Amino acid sequence: YPIFAQQGFENPREATGRIVCANCHLANKPVDIEVPQAVLPDTVFEAVVKIPYDMQLKQVLANGKRGALNVGAVLILPEGFELAPPDRISPEMKEKIGKLSFQPYRPTKKNILVIGPVPGQKYSEITFPLLSPDPSTNKDVHFLKYPIYVGGNRGRGQIYPDGNKSNNTVYNATAAGVVNKIIRKAKGGYEITITDASNGREVVDIIPPGPELRVSEGQSIKLDQPLTSNPNVGGFGQADAEIVLQDPLRVQVLLLFLTSVVLAQIFLVLKKKQFEKVQLSEMNF
Ligand code: HEM
Repeated sequence: YPIFAQQGFENPREATGRIVCANCHLANKPVDIEVPQAVLPDTVFEAVVKIPYDMQLKQVLANGKRGALNVGAVLILPEGFELAPPDRISPEMKEKIGKLSFQPYRPTKKNILVIGPVPGQKYSEITFPLLSPDPSTNKDVHFLKYPIYVGGNRGRGQIYPDGNKSNNTVYNATAAGVVNKIIRKAKGGYEITITDASNGREVVDIIPPGPELRVSEGQSIKLDQPLTSNPNVGGFGQADAEIVLQDPLRVQVLLLFLTSVVLAQIFLVLKKKQFEKVQLSEMNF
């Protein structure tokens, strides 16, 4: 959950560029982000994050039963950019946003937003309403090109913040030897007793409800050999985009310049026509 990242990591993006959700959501799946190429200062715009997956898929839930996937995302904006205030969001944009409620990553970090978990069936495409900063009132921002980073996830993680595995991952043998006994527990899950080949001691591996068993009694196994299937169908991915904070003055000057070029060309053609008339009148036949 994004809250696990908020509690465990001061900055959701590590120095290597990796987004911290990947520490616990181990599988890699694609995400995509769409933002405008440029925005003017103090303007509301939208970023669309796509977290595609096969909607038919069911995943293992915490109780071992199967259910639908949820999605979540973290959006890392340039300093000064933030969530758009509700009264400036157009009705069309409100419709796209739906019932989503975005949170800042930290009260002091308004430029980093998190969302989720929310139902993936409805929100595999998430629209973030955003507000660009104004360099005339905020001296820390400038008219520049900035990067935007996004991390998006569908499905449950593999590791809890305390370091324990969730039941949405593969379980491996902690000893090499022979599977001595498999006990199926009443609430689901297994207790697998392995006789360690090197010292004859018995090791018990406990499998929670969820993953499917891949070994049987009497089978000899290697260290770290998977005892179960990997039930995970979800995954995390990250992407980035670029956005230009555009000075309206620059656009106006550019338009002015382009107009002057067009006018100059028209006048050159007119001048040529005029000169041709002079040439014509001076001709002697
Ligand atoms: C579950 C997103 C960071 C561990 C989820 C779910 C979402 C999500 C959407 C629900 C999935 C579902 O129910 O189908 C994210 C995002 C993160 C993030 C966007 C980064 C901003 C983390 C971190 C950890 C973690 C850092 C580990 C410390 C888990 C676990 C679950 C889970 C164990 C399953 C919980 C359960 O069902 O018992 N996450 N997560 N996540 N996440 Fe994350």
